[in-house]
Order: sequence, then C-alpha cells, then structure tokens
Amino acid sequence: MKQRQKSEEVLEKLKEVIPGGCNSPARAFSSLGVMPMIAEGGKQDLLIDADGHEYIDFNMSWGSLILGHVDSYVCEETIDQIKKGSSFGVSTQIEQRLASKVCSMINPIEKVRFVSSGTEATMTAVRIARGYTKKDVIIKFNGHYHGHSDAFLVKAGSGVAHHFDDASSKGVPKEMVSKTISIPFNDKKAFLEVFESCKEDLAAVILEPVAGNMGCVESDLSFLKLLREKTKESKALLIFDEVITGFRVAKSGASEYFKITPDLICLGKIIGAGFPVAAVGGKKEVMDVLAPEGSVYQAGTLSGNPVAMRAGLSVLSQIDDETFYKNLIAKTNEFLKPIEEVISALKMPACINKAGAMFTIFVGVDKVERFEDLEGLDRALFNEFFRDLFEKGIYISPSPFESCFISSSHSQEHLEYAQKEIIASLKRLSNQIESRSLKKECATSSM
Ligand SMILES: Cc1ncc(COP(=O)(O)O)c(C=O)c1O
Repeated sequence: MKQRQKSEEVLEKLKEVIPGGCNSPARAFSSLGVMPMIAEGGKQDLLIDADGHEYIDFNMSWGSLILGHVDSYVCEETIDQIKKGSSFGVSTQIEQRLASKVCSMINPIEKVRFVSSGTEATMTAVRIARGYTKKDVIIKFNGHYHGHSDAFLVKAGSGVAHHFDDASSKGVPKEMVSKTISIPFNDKKAFLEVFESCKEDLAAVILEPVAGNMGCVESDLSFLKLLREKTKESKALLIFDEVITGFRVAKSGASEYFKITPDLICLGKIIGAGFPVAAVGGKKEVMDVLAPEGSVYQAGTLSGNPVAMRAGLSVLSQIDDETFYKNLIAKTNEFLKPIEEVISALKMPACINKAGAMFTIFVGVDKVERFEDLEGLDRALFNEFFRDLFEKGIYISPSPFESCFISSSHSQEHLEYAQKEIIASLKRLSNQIESRSLKKECATSSM
C-alpha cells in the first residue's frame, strides 16, 4: 500500500473545518475503501498528491483539462491578466473575444452569457426556456446530472447517484421539483407517454446528449431526433447540457457529433481551462430574453471574470483545429481497443462506452444504455478495480457513475502503462469471479 501520511494529516485538518473534508461530495471517494486524493500539483498527464506520489490522471478535473495540467500558454495568459487586474465589475473586451470564439466554434450559438459554474448555466437555461415559452414544465432524464440547483435534483446522476439511494437530496422542497419530470433515458415510449400528458405546459427538454454522469452513455440518434421533433411541435426548447461534451466529443460538441441543433447549449469545464467559467448560448431571439435586454433575470459578480476569460481564450485558441480532435480521438481509440478486446474474451460482465475523448470502463455489467441498467450494480467490483489502479499510480474517476477523459498531454508511454495495468486488473477480477462461482457450484452440488 502506498504510504500517504501527509495526505491523511491534511485530510484530518480539512475535516475539522469543511463538511466531509471536501468542497464537492464526489471528492470524498465514498465507499471506495481508499483515502481521498489530496492534490499538491499537476504536470501534463500527471496528478501529484500531498505525499509526492504521481498518478496518470484520467479524471482531468472532471473533464476540464483537455490540454492536461499546467499548459504553458494558459499559464502565460492568465498570469499576464492577473498583473493587469483580476476583476473589474464592468464589461471588458476579453469577454467579447471569448464570446465571438464560442459563437464561431459552435454553430447553433449566436449569443452567449458567461457564468461561473455549470450549475448556473443549466439553471439559467431553464429560466430562459420558461421565460421564452411562458410555460413551466421541464423533462429531464434519469441519471443525467445538471448541477445542484433545486429543480434538477430528481433522479440525478454523478455524486447524487453515489450518495443517495433515492437519488435526490434533502433540503429541496417538493414544490421546487413539482415541475420537473424525470424519465428513463433513450426510451422513446416513456418519453412519448409523458410528452402527450404535459406538452401544453412543456417549457423544455434538457439532457446530456452523451451522458457523462452515469458513466458515459450516448443518446440513441433516433431518440434525439424524436426529442427535437416533439419539442419543436410543442414550442418547447431543446436544451443540450454540454458541460462535459462541449469541446470534448467533437470540436463543436454534441450538435456536430449528432448533427442535431438544439435551442440552447450549456457549456462548462473545458471552456475555462480549469478556471470557473461556464456559459449558456443559443439563438439571438431566445438569448435576448435575458436582462437587461429582456425580463428574465440572471447576474453574477464574477461572471465574465477577466482572468477566467483569458484562460478560456487560451484553451479555445489551441483546440480550434480539426487535427487536434482527430489526434485526440485516435489516441483514445488506440488506448481503449486492446482493453475492449480483452473484455470480450473474458467471462466477466464488463463493457466500455466511449464518445470522442470520453469513456467509461463499466465493470459488473454487460451493457449500459440507460441509468436503469446500473441498478443492482456490484459496486464492490468497481471499488476493487479502482483500488488496483490507484495503487499502480493510475487515477480513474472515483465512482462507477462517472466518465474518464483523455487529454492531449497523455503520453504514449503513460497510456501503454495504464493499458497494461487495466488489463491485468480486469483479468484478476475475472479470475476472482470465476473461482467464486465455481465454489458456489461445488457447494450446491454437494448439498
Ligand atoms: C453535464 C453537467 N452539467 C452540469 C454540471 C454542473 O457543473 P458545475 O459542477 O460546474 O456546477 C456538471 C458537473 O459535473 C455536469 O457534468
């Protein structure tokens, strides 16, 4: 076992002053049987903990760092801005430059409002939809996570799925979720039934076009087309929550990946290069309902913060390039292919879902198309898989309900090492399952 004494000391002190010792529950490594990671620094594809151990990082700050840790241009640009001023409380030219860049990279976006977190982006998108359509009901999908605002904490994924068996949260009054309907993902029949019952009141359908928060699960294309058709028919808005998929599954995100144009797109993570930036964007006509142009209120003291905007510009200027994505996706596929081959040769239930440069290795289940496929998942198996890799200096996202990410900084050498160790761990788990079931068979036949 790795010695992590310093990490333990820091964690104990954190727990004294911060609930659970962390500022976001997914960092607690709940039930994994490993003490949480306490980070000291990062270096390209490596995360370094408080004890100086290095880990090949497949979480990349939950998908934020598409260029890896400590990108030199992002550093230069943000440090330069800090010297000029870190916050002004009025508009700047930098916001215009980043907004133009976003509009030029993502076709359906004509205007954009910057906020500081994905939670704010999705909350604002729903408020825009309600203000624009003058209707109230929203449909979301089980296992999709849209941040922690009240209206979305109904059968949500990510940390909510990990921490609450009823997949909800205390502290959310019933009334706050009374206009939210959560239904199974990729299920056309369930959608049509609910749609027919609420279409007159429907303001928006919101989804992660590739879910990242129940592990990586793509939308079925015909399902997405149905959502597009029906939202149009009922004059409701289709919202793509692309906080993960934006600039990740393709240069222009999911609207390019699926060739489907939503009405609103929420962005986060990559757009801030590790700084707190998120955004909601769409057609001018829809976006102009926002104050001060329109009467839908939204605001933020640090929205459009100049340091964060410079960070955004410095990452987007480096990734606005088809070759960047071609290489990144090829790298992801090459990394996963031998693992997929081993999985199909093994007897254990496991599978890999991937989209662009995001993926999940599911252990304990053969196929995941909906959140319901993860019901009854043997979490102990994932925990062992996680611990095996962690000991070998490989950090995958710390929950079976999350995605992993490849950055442009992942080196061939590190990917080959991680590939070898992942395969070794899967083989070990498979043997373990086999000998367990053999033992069971022997026990029943001798009864
Ligand atoms: C798809 C999606 N939407 C929204 C959010 C919320 O973003 P934030 O954590 O920045 O509030 C997340 C966070 O992981 C996310 O994955």
